[in-house]
Amino acid sequence: SNPSLLILAGDGIGPEVMAEVRRIIDWYGEKRDMPFDVSEGLVGGCSYDAHGTPLTDETMARAQEVDAVLLGAVGGPQYDDLDFSVKPERGLLRLRKEMDLYANLRPAQCFDALADFSSLKRDVVAGLDIMIVRELTSGIYFGEPRGIIQEGNERVGINTQRYTESEIERVARSAFELARRRGNKVCSMEKANVMESGVLWREVVQRIGDTEYPDVELSHMYADAGAMQLCRWPKQFDVIVTDNLFGDLLSDAAAMLTGSLGMLPSASLGAPMDNGRPKALYEPVHGSAPDIAGQGKANPIACVLSFAMALRYSFDKGAEADRLEQAVEKVLADGLRTADLLGEEGATPVSTSGMGDAILAALEAS
Ligand code: NAI
Ligand code: MG
Repeated sequence: SNPSLLILAGDGIGPEVMAEVRRIIDWYGEKRDMPFDVSEGLVGGCSYDAHGTPLTDETMARAQEVDAVLLGAVGGPQYDDLDFSVKPERGLLRLRKEMDLYANLRPAQCFDALADFSSLKRDVVAGLDIMIVRELTSGIYFGEPRGIIQEGNERVGINTQRYTESEIERVARSAFELARRRGNKVCSMEKANVMESGVLWREVVQRIGDTEYPDVELSHMYADAGAMQLCRWPKQFDVIVTDNLFGDLLSDAAAMLTGSLGMLPSASLGAPMDNGRPKALYEPVHGSAPDIAGQGKANPIACVLSFAMALRYSFDKGAEADRLEQAVEKVLADGLRTADLLGEEGATPVSTSGMGDAILAALEAS
């Protein structure tokens, strides 16, 4: 049977950017004989409007069955006053939690045509292609005890950084597996100098590396030094693996090496299913951008590149993922720019669908 894909376009610009991806998916079915069984569902504010909940049990169950979920974005000002339990982002959080998506993949990739967009010098970022793997389901954001307690005559705010060996093992394996398909290098980041969880993290990652991935080059770095190195010379890295808190900061910092939010894809992967594929959710890093929604201004590339990640990591179509990424590279080199990327002289402004047209034309020509 065909590989299955659940599309949850969501709110704001989510449906606008997803419409362009949908055309690309259809192109693969028609022109490259790669049909997908595509189903669609609601998530976020649009699901609340229709069903009173940001994610129905039926959609949740469907997400558990398919080979991959592709999500647009959720949220918007009209939902800001809703009760916490039905806020749009609860739909996304429920997906991540129930699918147990513990490895968050955030590539920082700089297309040559956009190198002058970075806040860093051109030669530091041009051609950059690194991957940050952030542990997503444990660590200090979830550890117990937590809370604000009274201690004597003042209050204390408490969070607990807690990692079990198996939690470290599984995300380490995700990073090593990725490295094998890329530059074969993993750099693990923690603060083993001042944190017990960091000592365990380093020991477990080293053991998994030695016993299961001796062919992958492994190094360790304190996360603060890593932040410095990311800005100084990011091309020294291939795959970086780190915990939830450090990964949150490092991946946002790395994102800015490459320019616009409208360019950044992500994947969240869980344990392998019966068919050997990981549970997987692909989504652009950006949100629903209510300030530009409905105007044809949104850059669809982050969502297109998220689908490229799905081709590579869920469907074993690495060559087709390369083809799609090269099509994006081509249209950028040709000077086509959605509004978020405008600035240089000689660039050609395009709408959301204009960018989609150009990517399809580049695919067709490839
Ligand atoms: P945002 O990412 O939606 O927008 C930030 C800025 O970047 C805006 O000026 C927007 O116009 C621009 N931008 C974002 N994506 C773009 C694209 N593809 N093309 C061109 N410009 C783009 O973040 P913001 O404004 O903080 O949040 C807006 C809503 O989105 C909120 O309701 C928030 O909760 C939600 N959100 C949802 C996320 C998700 O679904 N994963 C992630 C972040 C925010
Ligand atoms: Mg963050």
